Amino acid sequence: MLSSLATIAAFVAVAHGAATGLPSRTTAADAALCSQYAYQSVNGYDLLNNLWGISTATSGSQCTTYDGPAGSGIAFSSTWTWQGDQNTVKSYIYAGRQFQRKKVSDIRSLPTTVEWSYNRTDHRANVAYDIFTSTDPDHANSSGDFELMIWLHRYGGIWPITSSSTGSPIATVTVAGYSWDLYTGYNGAMRVYSFVAPNGPYNSFTADVKEFFNYLVKNESFPESQQYMLIYQFGTEAFVGGPIKFGVSKFQAEVN
Ligand SMILES: *[C@@H]1O[C@H](CO)[C@@H](O)[C@H](O)[C@H]1NC(C)=O
Ligand SMILES: *[C@@H]1O[C@H](CO)[C@@H](O)[C@H](O)[C@H]1NC(C)=O
Ligand SMILES: *[C@@H]1O[C@H](CO)[C@@H](O)[C@H](O)[C@H]1NC(C)=O
Repeated sequence: MLSSLATIAAFVAVAHGAATGLPSRTTAADAALCSQYAYQSVNGYDLLNNLWGISTATSGSQCTTYDGPAGSGIAFSSTWTWQGDQNTVKSYIYAGRQFQRKKVSDIRSLPTTVEWSYNRTDHRANVAYDIFTSTDPDHANSSGDFELMIWLHRYGGIWPITSSSTGSPIATVTVAGYSWDLYTGYNGAMRVYSFVAPNGPYNSFTADVKEFFNYLVKNESFPESQQYMLIYQFGTEAFVGGPIKFGVSKFQAEVN
């Protein structure tokens, strides 16, 4: 859809693509979300098409659909194809849990289950949880002081943010019963921690995400009593490839 690409103004993203505004809200439950920030609020979740990096695409398109409730969570899917800079994110398709912001130290648990798939493997993308925290409970949704990412897989040799000159993880750890390579670095002023599945995809993932914060508190002096959790999202950061389908048969997340 080159014609529509040309008309979209560049969006300067500070972070991995949480939208600052939610202008284009659909009402029909089964309408495809195809425009840049097309958005739907369903069952306690925000579903966003979120083409925040579209200015670095030379061509492509993407549509996301709500596929219905799944347990106490939701199902959704997205079909995309992107050409252009192979090292930049074009979109972060996500479902975000709606919740009352609280200090991380006041959150008892963050139980979640997700089941997802991609129908091919020759693309560049991750599949990841994304959480921002800030000392300011009224901070914008698009960044924070800290970002916690949990990458259930990466395709095509993409990398998390790292300040390591060798690209090595700072630790290889087991958290919530899964093995991870931990990377850290800065995105502007925001400190980013990325737990990355070292091998095959975790297509079916059940965990208490609070355990990742507990690890950071213990090992990285994460200041949980000063940080409010701002956003809690799961989705895929699309770089290039396709046509491809990302399917999430279930995403469920609670903030207790
Ligand atoms: C963050 O996004 C939510 C929608 O999930 C919205 O209700 C809220 O107003 C946003 N907060 C800020 C500070 O932009
Ligand atoms: C950090 O994590 C590693 C691996 O889980 C553990 O062995 C080590 O004791 C931790 N260090 C601190 C300071 O907690
Ligand atoms: C994956 O899904 C896309 C979008 O529906 C489709 O165009 C493509 O043919 C599928 N590829 C495979 C290998 O199934």
